[in-house]
Amino acid sequence: MAGQKNLHSISHDHFTGMMLTQIIRKGNSVNDDFLKNIDEKVNYTIHFYDQELANHFYLEEQVLFPLVRGLSEEIDGIINRIVDEHQFVTELVKELNFKTDLENKLDRISRVLEEHIKLEERVLFPKIHEALSDNELTALARKLFENGYENIYKY
Ligand SMILES: [Fe+2]
Ligand SMILES: [Fe+2]
Repeated sequence: MAGQKNLHSISHDHFTGMMLTQIIRKGNSVNDDFLKNIDEKVNYTIHFYDQELANHFYLEEQVLFPLVRGLSEEIDGIINRIVDEHQFVTELVKELNFKTDLENKLDRISRVLEEHIKLEERVLFPKIHEALSDNELTALARKLFENGYENIYKY
């Protein structure tokens, strides 16, 4: 598909998000030395949220979505759901500060975030690509680049 590269820096962020979902998943034994106990997983998740995810959500909501709202009713509906999910993930991460039931909380974050990323990658982004011409996609990429997606052309 022409213009597919234009949302690639977001997809790069999604790759690191997907790694998080695997690392913190219940019963996971991806690596014996890395984040092997629940406290380390909780600390890593909070750190990842503060350092990566909060900014990622912000860029989507403040930069990407205003540029693509109104393309179709379907896209607007998906975006509304995505914004609700950002809020939900944020609340789930905050709940990690209460040190009860941590394993299940991490598992919930893992599953919600994984479905969220799939919705963006497999449903929203293809619909955006479908709705825009190549010239419009290039214009979108330029605006994303100007507004904080510094790596837009790298991936
Ligand atoms: Fe998102
Ligand atoms: Fe995203």
